[in-house]
Amino acid sequence: MARITASVYTSHVPAIGAAIDLGKTQEDYWKPLFSGYETGKQWFKQHKPDVVFLVYNDHATAFSLDFIPTFAIGTADQYQPADEGWGPRPVPVVQGHADLAGHIAQSVIQQDFDLTIVNKMDVDHGLTVPLSLVCGQPTPEHFQWPCPVIPFAVNVVQYPVPSGRRCLELGKAIRKAVETFDQPLNVQIWGTGGMSHQLQGPRAGLINKAWDAQFMDDMIAQPEHLANKPHIEYVREAGSEGIELVMWLIARGAMDDLAPGATAASKPHVAHRFYHVPASNTAVGHLILENPN
Ligand code: DHB
Ligand code: FE
Repeated sequence: MARITASVYTSHVPAIGAAIDLGKTQEDYWKPLFSGYETGKQWFKQHKPDVVFLVYNDHATAFSLDFIPTFAIGTADQYQPADEGWGPRPVPVVQGHADLAGHIAQSVIQQDFDLTIVNKMDVDHGLTVPLSLVCGQPTPEHFQWPCPVIPFAVNVVQYPVPSGRRCLELGKAIRKAVETFDQPLNVQIWGTGGMSHQLQGPRAGLINKAWDAQFMDDMIAQPEHLANKPHIEYVREAGSEGIELVMWLIARGAMDDLAPGATAASKPHVAHRFYHVPASNTAVGHLILENPN
């Protein structure tokens, strides 16, 4: 059977992708940020999964106001990097895992979550920047991502957006789906976006370090409590785009300690925790939680 071995959390920012693609990672502004991802990259090399289930948000790239799925699962064989206005990022095409994605769609929909099934979709910085940060940038000699990826897009752009509670419960359903797949795959689930940031209006540039730190503490130790946080608190405390953080709860809900029959020994191990301000307009957070063996 397949198994979720770990969850990885990271912010995304288009400027991070541009810094990588343009060779600026060692510049004074960017160096502290990329140094903080070195441990995560080493960890990923040592814990390479068979598949990454990557929870992210599209930024009106594949979807638009014409069409707004709350939860969309990618069931395709491949996904092209999107053109976000400056041409697509020079990164590999993302290879999917249609068999596992189809199984998860079947199982999760039967568990009463109404997913949108997507057979063709381009993926924007919400997905490609976390891949570059955690896997490292693929070289021209080996131009492919290290494993297949199932993109799972969440609407956090246009209200109404899903609640933290709904996201945590969805993660539990995804875990159950993965565990009933009949191949022995090592699956990681990633929750991306956030941390505090606001890109528009009079509060543009808002960052809230204390709130972000508490959010990370609660992600580790009390996710059930965190799931009760209302949207308005994300917006008030973490800015209008801080709501991207509800996606972290999907990944967190899939961890062992929230499964039926969990014990004190099911608690995740914190393999890495990192926080840095600023990256463009965003506070960047990164967390790696491992399930006990
Ligand atoms: C920025 C952050 C985002 O999450 C995003 O989607 C676009 C831009 C920024 O900080 O510039
Ligand atoms: Fe974003």
